[in-house]
Amino acid sequence: MKIAVILGTRPEIIKMSPIIRNLTKRGDEFFILHTGQHYSYEMDKSFFDTLELPDPRYNLDAGSGSHAEQTGKVMLGIETVLQKEKPGVVLVQGDTNTVLAGALAAAKLHVKVGHVEAGLRSFDRRMPEEVNRVVADHISDYLFAPTEIARANLLHEGIDKKKIFVTGNTIVDAVFQNLEIAQKRGDILLKLGLSHGKYFLVTAHRVENVDDEPRLKKIIAGLMTIGKKYALPVIFPVHPRTEKKLREFGILPTGITFIPPKNFLEFLQLEAHAILVLTDSGGVQEETCILGVPCVTLRDNTERPETVDVGANILSGVEPDAILKAADAMLGVPRDWKNPFGDGTASEKIVSILSENA
Ligand code: UD1
Ligand code: UDP
Repeated sequence: MKIAVILGTRPEIIKMSPIIRNLTKRGDEFFILHTGQHYSYEMDKSFFDTLELPDPRYNLDAGSGSHAEQTGKVMLGIETVLQKEKPGVVLVQGDTNTVLAGALAAAKLHVKVGHVEAGLRSFDRRMPEEVNRVVADHISDYLFAPTEIARANLLHEGIDKKKIFVTGNTIVDAVFQNLEIAQKRGDILLKLGLSHGKYFLVTAHRVENVDDEPRLKKIIAGLMTIGKKYALPVIFPVHPRTEKKLREFGILPTGITFIPPKNFLEFLQLEAHAILVLTDSGGVQEETCILGVPCVTLRDNTERPETVDVGANILSGVEPDAILKAADAMLGVPRDWKNPFGDGTASEKIVSILSENA
C-alpha cells in the first residue's frame, strides 16, 4: 500500500519526521508531498536538513495567502498528484490549512485519510486551526488520537469508535530521537551567551495574538516586565508572521532578544535549559511538558489540556499582570509531572495500524 505523506509547515515536518523515519526503515512504499505553505529556509528546509529527511517528491510551492487562496491552491495541486500517484492512503498531521486541503482533496477522490493528532479541541471556532481540525477529523478514515481526552472529544462528536486509535503524540518520538543528538551537537547556549536555567524562552505566532495590535502589545509588555523583575534574558526566536506584525505595528521592545527561528536541534536545547517557556504554540506546550520545563501559555484556551492537568502548563491570557502572575506561579512548581503524550512509539503504532488495516 502506497502512502502519501502530506506536509507543509514547520510543526508538520517535525511531527511527521518519526513516521517518515519509520516508513523508510520498514521499506514501505511512500512519498512526501510538500505543499510549500512554509517556504523560508528557517521554517522549512532547515528541518529537512537537521532531521535528515528525504526530499519531497513534490513541492506545490503554494506559499502564503488568504485562507481560501492558500487552501484552494493546495487542494488543486494535491488533487493532481493523487490522481497520478494513486496512493492507498494519505497521511496529514495537525491542524493547518495544508491538513484541511490534503484531507479534503483525498476524501473527494475516495482516497483513505489518516489524521495524525486527531481529536484536539480548543472549542474556539474563531481559530482557523479549530475549523481545520474538526473538518479533517470528520472526513478521516483513521484517526490517530494522541490521548484519551482526544479520543473522548471524537466520540462526543459521533465519530465511529472503530476509526479511532490512541497512539500517543509523535512529538514524543521526535523529542526522544533528537534530544541526545541536540545536547551532543549543542553549542547554541554558548553561541547566545546563555547558561542553564538563566533565561526565559518565548515563541508567539497565533493569528489571534500577533495580528491583533493591542494583544501583541500586551504580550510584549508582559515579557518586558518579567525580564526586568527576574533580571534574566528573554530570548524570542521570532516567527515570520510575528516579525512582520511587530514591524507593521511599530513595536520596538527593550529587554527582549529577538533571534531568527532556530532549527529543531537548537530549539530543543533552548527549551530544555530554559527556566520557563512562554508561548502560544501547540507544539511548544507539548515539548516543554515532555522535557520537564514549566510553561506559560499566552492564550485563553488550549487544545492541549493534558499539559495543564499534569501541572506543567498554565493559561495566562495576554494581560501583562496576568502573564507575570502566571510566570511567578510556574517558577515555583515542582517539575515532577508525568508526560501525558505517550512513550515515544506513536509513529511505530501509526505505521503498523496502517499496514494491518489499510
Ligand atoms: C501556520 C498555521 C498554524 C501553525 C503555523 C506553524 C494555518 C491556518 N496556520 O500559521 O496553525 O501553527 O503555521 O508555524 O494553516 N511566512 C514567511 N515564511 C514562511 C512562512 C510564512 O515569511 O516560510 C510569513 C508570511 O508573511 C505569511 C505569514 O508568515 O503570510 C503567515 O504564514 P501562514 O503559513 O499563512 O500562517 P502561519 O502563521 O505560519
Ligand atoms: N520550533 C523550532 N524552532 C523555533 C521555534 C519552534 O524548531 O525557532 C519548533 C518547536 O520545537 C515545535 C514546533 O516548532 O516542535 C512548533 O511549531 P509552531 O510553534 O510554529 O506551530 P504549532 O505547534 O503552534 O502549530
